[in-house]
Amino acid sequence: MAPVTPERADPRPERHDAGMGIRVGLVGAGGVGARHARVLSGFEDVELAGIWDADAGVAAALAGAVGAPVAAGLDSLLDRGLDAVWLCVPPFAHGDLELAVIRAGLPFLVEKPLAADLAVAERVAAAVAAAGLPTATGYHWRHLDTVDRARDALAGAPVRLVDARWWGTTPPPTWWSRSDRSGGQVVEQATHVLDLLRVLAGEVAEVVGGAAPSTREGRDVPDATAAVLRLDSGAVGTVSTSCVLPAPTAAALEVVADGTWVHLTETALRIRTAAGDEDVSPAVDGRTAVDRAFVDVVSGRPAPPGLVDVAEALATHRLAWAVTEATRTATTVRVPR
Ligand SMILES: NC(=O)c1ccc[n+]([C@@H]2O[C@H](COP(=O)([O-])OP(=O)(O)OC[C@H]3O[C@@H](n4cnc5c(N)ncnc54)[C@H](O)[C@@H]3O)[C@@H](O)[C@H]2O)c1
Repeated sequence: MAPVTPERADPRPERHDAGMGIRVGLVGAGGVGARHARVLSGFEDVELAGIWDADAGVAAALAGAVGAPVAAGLDSLLDRGLDAVWLCVPPFAHGDLELAVIRAGLPFLVEKPLAADLAVAERVAAAVAAAGLPTATGYHWRHLDTVDRARDALAGAPVRLVDARWWGTTPPPTWWSRSDRSGGQVVEQATHVLDLLRVLAGEVAEVVGGAAPSTREGRDVPDATAAVLRLDSGAVGTVSTSCVLPAPTAAALEVVADGTWVHLTETALRIRTAAGDEDVSPAVDGRTAVDRAFVDVVSGRPAPPGLVDVAEALATHRLAWAVTEATRTATTVRVPR
């Protein structure tokens, strides 16, 4: 991994009147970059002013599909009078990219996880804090109205037990199967439910765990991991992942509080109390809401409560890293603060 050093942001250059809409550049034109490009192209107040990918063919294909220009390189992209940049690269590709965007004085939305390891994420977060730039991250579940509903249901009921689960397949990108490229399944996938665990149950103090090593050639990401959490509040929890199933099977957070059970997925919420069960479907599409939220911020409107900036994402990444380390080493790991 390339070493990175925090750098001071230059003053932001003059830009066009954001009231007329904002100019956005996009880096990384793979699966999630294509999703963001389509969402952004659907906003009347956004101009997708350039797309760059390390693979020029991938960039050209997406640019053609959404009617945006291709940039020949990062410098040429950042030189297009942008108001913000969307960074949609794999976990191993973070660090220098963010520092270049910070040097250019540009706000950015970066996909989760912040990095494949902890050191790069810490350095990027420190550089963002020093520059004072607005940021957002791809923790789009936080924008679901069901998360607010779950929080309301748990208000005043002390949480005693949590269970975060991500059981599914091995995703196709080759980088995913290598821990040093993806960070592993906890860092790359379960991070979504660990983020919600922090929101609904509070911070985790320490983690102990174990892993079932990979049985697939070419993949060092474990077949399964399991961890036990101790929360600041005194509650306990479990986290489990597996990537050996033929289809996505469980991506969920369950919370047991005094008198209340909450079961939350990206598409459904069930609340059980003494009054009975309540099933709620989200009215919000988090994948669109996350882009809308950051466009609003860059345009000068207030940040919506669901927006997870880099500083907040770092707290979730520290937890995911601690779970990964605990399962890798079968030791107790304290979550860094
Ligand atoms: N929020 C979500 O729900 C969600 C969903 C899917 C993926 N993601 C995240 O988005 C990230 C990307 O995932 P993906 O599925 O799009 O991966 P992908 O492999 O499909 O695409 C990544 C693209 O980035 C390009 N790239 C790699 N290194 C680069 C660099 N240094 N500079 C420029 N381009 C570079 C690659 O050529 C590729 O086209 C991952 O971190 C993943 O966790 C988030």
